[in-house]
Amino acid sequence: TLTAQRYYVNGEWKESTTGNVVEIMSPYKEGVVGTVQALSQEEAAAAIQSAKQAQKAWAKVSLQEKADLLYKWADELLAMQDELAQTMMFEVGKSLKDAKSEVQRTYDYIRYTAQEALHTNGESMRGDRFPGGSSSKVGIVDRVPLGVVLAIAPFNYPVNLSASKLAPALISGNTVIFKPATQGALSGIKMMEAFDRAGFPAGVVNIVTGRGSVIGDFLVEHKDISMVSFTGGTKTGENLAKVAGMKPVVLELGGKDPGIVREDADIDKAVKNIISGAYSYSGQRCTAIKRVLVHDNVANELVAKLQAEVEKLAVGSPEDGNTVVPLIDSKSADGVQALIDDALEKGATLLAGNKREGNLIHPTLLDHVTEDMDVAWVEPFGPVLPVIRVGSDEEAIEIANKSEYGLQASIFTRDVDKAFYIANELETGAVQINGRTERGPDHFPFLGVKGSGMGTQGIANSILSMTREKLTVLNLD
Ligand code: G3H
Repeated sequence: TLTAQRYYVNGEWKESTTGNVVEIMSPYKEGVVGTVQALSQEEAAAAIQSAKQAQKAWAKVSLQEKADLLYKWADELLAMQDELAQTMMFEVGKSLKDAKSEVQRTYDYIRYTAQEALHTNGESMRGDRFPGGSSSKVGIVDRVPLGVVLAIAPFNYPVNLSASKLAPALISGNTVIFKPATQGALSGIKMMEAFDRAGFPAGVVNIVTGRGSVIGDFLVEHKDISMVSFTGGTKTGENLAKVAGMKPVVLELGGKDPGIVREDADIDKAVKNIISGAYSYSGQRCTAIKRVLVHDNVANELVAKLQAEVEKLAVGSPEDGNTVVPLIDSKSADGVQALIDDALEKGATLLAGNKREGNLIHPTLLDHVTEDMDVAWVEPFGPVLPVIRVGSDEEAIEIANKSEYGLQASIFTRDVDKAFYIANELETGAVQINGRTERGPDHFPFLGVKGSGMGTQGIANSILSMTREKLTVLNLD
């Protein structure tokens, strides 16, 4: 069992004067695995003031020095890889192996972010490029920080998706208010221990924990928050965008990524990618493959091979390194079960799964899913994969685009021209040809359209989103 955790503000570990804590439950262990402080709005406001006060001096620290501190933070994180992975396993039910690779990915992410900034320069321009302009007018264009960035992270990558907001914010001279997900807060606090040891100036990152209902909107609408970077559910993101008013926001939200399988596809390759895309970490990834749109002529073959692979998936506790593990909480498992029940009631064919033990939903494969079933449209964030059979590329494109989401899509085909044709038609942030939908490698742009988000992440783009242009014009004689 993990202990009671404090919060970290202005370089100090503190307890809330409210005396209130939030109890963190594990997806798979009995009872409470730890507690975090439930901050009041006054305490959240004080954290914002620390970040605001620290920001001007932090922005002036040389880029080399900022990069050195980020490198130290990355080293400290890697040094506690086992401890961090253990915390993640208890708190969000990620297998130790996956949790360890998340720490490694975070180490690489932070280092690359520092390097990206070190290799970025501003530009200068002369006025005579525009009609009537003079070459003696020289514009110097630099990028400057926005101020205090509010980073709100989700449960499913409590370390990586936190650092992928903190690192670009920090390297570009912003200070940060870091609000981890409730389940994810213990891991977030552990990250702050590494941060504290790295020796950053006080107030540069402040972690606030507590009830979203108490401090969520309060943080977002606070006048001293300059920008919000959020990863989480679409409903919360939509509310956040309204509350944020004129503040810039970057939102990474839900998805219903289709795996489109053409009749000329390499079926074995498609099966391998769809299985890992749909079921890794029980499908609790925004980029998971969440529906298959397969051509009628190869549907029987694909489905038989998918079924055989689903039956081989390792299912159970994250402590035994399983792929399909208990979902984050019982509400989530209830939602997934309701989708399965609805589909079966409406005539879908069950090929595997539909078995539940507590929060563990066994990997479920549904064939002959039709558009009247909720599972055709709703994001499950769980291990259920609907197969929809289609008669043409056009039908696949139409069903793919009917979704309220537009994160990514996969196309499996041997015909590169067709792949490009379909990719052009799809309303998504990214299209993967002959590969599973996924965010990485982390320097690629990462974005969703429609209900899947707003703004672009990926290392260089995250830095851009947390800075703005600053123009200084030199008028020479
Ligand atoms: O859950 C959303 C993450 O950004 C997905 O990342 O594709 O590396 O699993 P991933």
